[in-house]
Amino acid sequence: MTFIPCMLASRSFLLHVCQQQLCQHSAQLIKEADISRYYTTLLTNMAACSRLISRLTVVTGGGSGIGRAVCQRFATEGASVVVADRNEESANQTLELLSRDHKGQEHMALGVDVSSKDSVEKLVTNIQRRYFQPPSVCVNAAGITKDEFLLKMEEDDFDKVIEINLKGTFLVTQAVSKALVSAGAAKGSIITVGSIVGKVGNIGQVNYSSSKSGVEGLTRTAAKELSKFGIRCNCVLPGFIATPMTDKVPDKVIDKLTAIIPMGRMGEPAEVADACAFLASDDSRYITGISIEVAGGLFIG
Ligand SMILES: *[C@@H]1O[C@H](CO)[C@@H](O)[C@H](O)[C@H]1NC(C)=O
Ligand SMILES: *[C@@H]1O[C@H](CO)[C@@H](O)[C@H](O)[C@H]1NC(C)=O
Repeated sequence: MTFIPCMLASRSFLLHVCQQQLCQHSAQLIKEADISRYYTTLLTNMAACSRLISRLTVVTGGGSGIGRAVCQRFATEGASVVVADRNEESANQTLELLSRDHKGQEHMALGVDVSSKDSVEKLVTNIQRRYFQPPSVCVNAAGITKDEFLLKMEEDDFDKVIEINLKGTFLVTQAVSKALVSAGAAKGSIITVGSIVGKVGNIGQVNYSSSKSGVEGLTRTAAKELSKFGIRCNCVLPGFIATPMTDKVPDKVIDKLTAIIPMGRMGEPAEVADACAFLASDDSRYITGISIEVAGGLFIG
């Protein structure tokens, strides 16, 4: 474990904090490995501190999983966060979890259906009404899965996934970029969430993998078109991350998958959020149109 020089708190104190926090989020048995990982996250957050101060951020799918972790991480770094989710109750719950350590941080929660142009435009309008500016950072974390073999997949199930994962990312990216361009904003960072499955495919996920490959293509094109407006667009490709989405995966499958991950474990939503924070911040100011795999080495190459 690397220690950061500015850390004054003892490891045992931090472990205690971690344990408490983990208990709040999960009634499950807590493993030493979980605590250790959470502890690393806590240290990382404390060390990284404040790269996003005064950055207004909207996170779709912010009510759970990776989206929620992104909201928490960004709030820790000083951003004002708009938690947007189709499930308004879960967005409200994320809002409750957000830190307000920095002056001037003002978070809010809003309901949105990313597959509806109306709803997305309403979201951006509401944000501008409240903050008098468009969000300069946007994380498209809204997404769903609906698995079935190609030979059995219903047309509706294909369409639904594409509508939310791909068209939703398009609508949100377009609405936020339009608002940034018309406001004459100096810079923006749009982050999309693809999937390692978009690259390598996965049995039973013809709809999901198509939508996620599409997100990568969309991101590269958006990067080319929006660079002249100071807007960067990048994609994160999560591997096998423990979220409500993967809760539905049977234990047997989890064991099999974990066995082929070089790092030997599933990822945490916070580890994807770390990559998003980098892409949102000026630390990545010369980076656009790329995809970062956050997958523990799964499907390297
Ligand atoms: C979310 O919070 C807002 C503001 O407090 C409230 O008006 C709304 O009813 C809440 N929504 C749900 C579904 O709990
Ligand atoms: C993908 O298709 C399957 C099978 O038709 C379906 O059950 C699933 O809901 C679809 N995925 C999504 C995200 O809609």
